[in-house]
Amino acid sequence: MKKNVDDLRSARWFAPDDLRSFGHRSRLMQMGLDPQDWEGRPVIGVLNTWSELNPCHAHFRERAADVKKGVHQAGGFPVELPAISVDETFTKPTSMLYRNLLAMETEEMIRSHPLDGVVLMGGCDKTTPGLVMGALSAGVPMIYLPAGPMLRGNYAGKILGSGSDAWKYWDERRAGNISDAEWLGVEGGIARSYGTCMTMGTASTMTAIAEALGLCLPGASSIPAADAGHMRMSTNCGRRIVDMVWENLTPDLIVTPASARNAAIVAMATGCSTNAVIHLLAMAKRAGVNLTLDELDALGRSTPLIANVRPSGKGDYLMEDFFYAGGLRALMAQLGDRLDLAAVTVTGKSLGETLEGAQVYNDDVIRPLSNPVYHEGSLAVLRGNLCPDGAVIKPAACDERFWVHEGPALVFDSYPEMKKAVDDENLDVTPDHVMVLRNAGPLGGPGMPEWGMLPIPKALIKQGHRDMLRISDARMSGTSYGACVLHVAPESYIGGPLALLKNGDRVRLDLPNRRLDMLVPEAEIEARRAAWKAPEPRYERGYGWLFGKHVTQANEGCDFDFLLPEFGKTAGEPDIF
Ligand code: FES
Repeated sequence: MKKNVDDLRSARWFAPDDLRSFGHRSRLMQMGLDPQDWEGRPVIGVLNTWSELNPCHAHFRERAADVKKGVHQAGGFPVELPAISVDETFTKPTSMLYRNLLAMETEEMIRSHPLDGVVLMGGCDKTTPGLVMGALSAGVPMIYLPAGPMLRGNYAGKILGSGSDAWKYWDERRAGNISDAEWLGVEGGIARSYGTCMTMGTASTMTAIAEALGLCLPGASSIPAADAGHMRMSTNCGRRIVDMVWENLTPDLIVTPASARNAAIVAMATGCSTNAVIHLLAMAKRAGVNLTLDELDALGRSTPLIANVRPSGKGDYLMEDFFYAGGLRALMAQLGDRLDLAAVTVTGKSLGETLEGAQVYNDDVIRPLSNPVYHEGSLAVLRGNLCPDGAVIKPAACDERFWVHEGPALVFDSYPEMKKAVDDENLDVTPDHVMVLRNAGPLGGPGMPEWGMLPIPKALIKQGHRDMLRISDARMSGTSYGACVLHVAPESYIGGPLALLKNGDRVRLDLPNRRLDMLVPEAEIEARRAAWKAPEPRYERGYGWLFGKHVTQANEGCDFDFLLPEFGKTAGEPDIF
């Protein structure tokens, strides 16, 4: 149903002839505005996660100006509001600790202010799910504006990819093969412009998911940050959100079981980051959609990986190549009726309509379904006595020889303990060992840090080994690779089975059958469980305490239990004016 001026949410702040509204209007005039600046115009919040400690969003002040230009052109009244930037690189102990803080901030900022619609500006890993989760709960019309990937890395004539080349070159440096000068060259060449990591890491995965959910303008997630098209897309976001307010196109009409499934299929076809699992579950739950790990595994089995982009791709292709090859629209067009093409998008049109005319310009980068990079999707969900509530692995990013593997466990209780051991050239370890890191989950980490690509012990590096089976309850950067089992649930910190594993226990991975087990007799496991003692909580006050009390496990999306729709109703619109 279309909206009238009187129906605008912001009219409750600005329209009445009463003392409260006098206060609201006079304070706008204090900022140099006239009634004609706001009267009859939808108020559009531009939620900007810019910060000087977020290089991926360094262009957001300029892009916010582009959005505001579009809002003005379409007859709206833009207001820019800052939100916590949750940058991936500098935020410690891990950005994941603060995804839910951004979600809470987004929801409350929208609810408490006179906003009729919002443009959400994010891109760096956790900002996409954080902004989307909060805005889904707030429920006003929204468009997601993705930051766009940075340019390809370059050093000494070689293409460098975010993250994956950092790990690769670091292993070479640890092996003594790279000089200080060369290392500085890699440091300067791996991130050459603003924008998000340009591999198909968590950032590109999550912005692709936002677009597949129907929350971005068509093609928006693939546009490189430094491309002039990114500015035009930003201005278009501003124009479109104003129309969305008049059309009353709220996110509950867009994020549905059908669009959540579309997003999961697209994630699998892109070779998505393992982090996608947690964030997709969390975003879907906020929309009241009960996506499960088992559904994701089924979609993983049935969806071919067709985006030939690192780290899952074969070759040197990066997000810039993906854009030139046609971008996400072309990829979704390849998937065709595997997707629900009737799903509604922010354009007001169906997904199918927005894909009309989409073409692949390089079929080695965006492969046809008949010639995929990998015949199944990029993620697999494991079960077994080590992970009764699930664990995740990225088969396409690890050597096939580890798909079925059995070896003795080498267990570490903390990251510092593990780090010291892997740097010991005399460590007693073989390529068959299964390295395990525990106490790295949502509560143990805390915040489930991206430690899951455990470093290969120096002793093995020197022998030329670059991969081994590794298991943890941590996450892994979307730019990482290797035989890493992640997100083991329930986590060891709360007494999950990983807590009961001992050095030398045999561990078996059987990827084709989706199993991960410790080959320890059940009676012995029970005896160890009875003897296990819970560690002290990580935090005694503040946000960390709140996180520790309320975060859910990885298989449920790591949201706060009290933010899930089933927890109860919010108070509704503010009614004290
Ligand atoms: Fe921001 Fe990778 S560090 S997207």
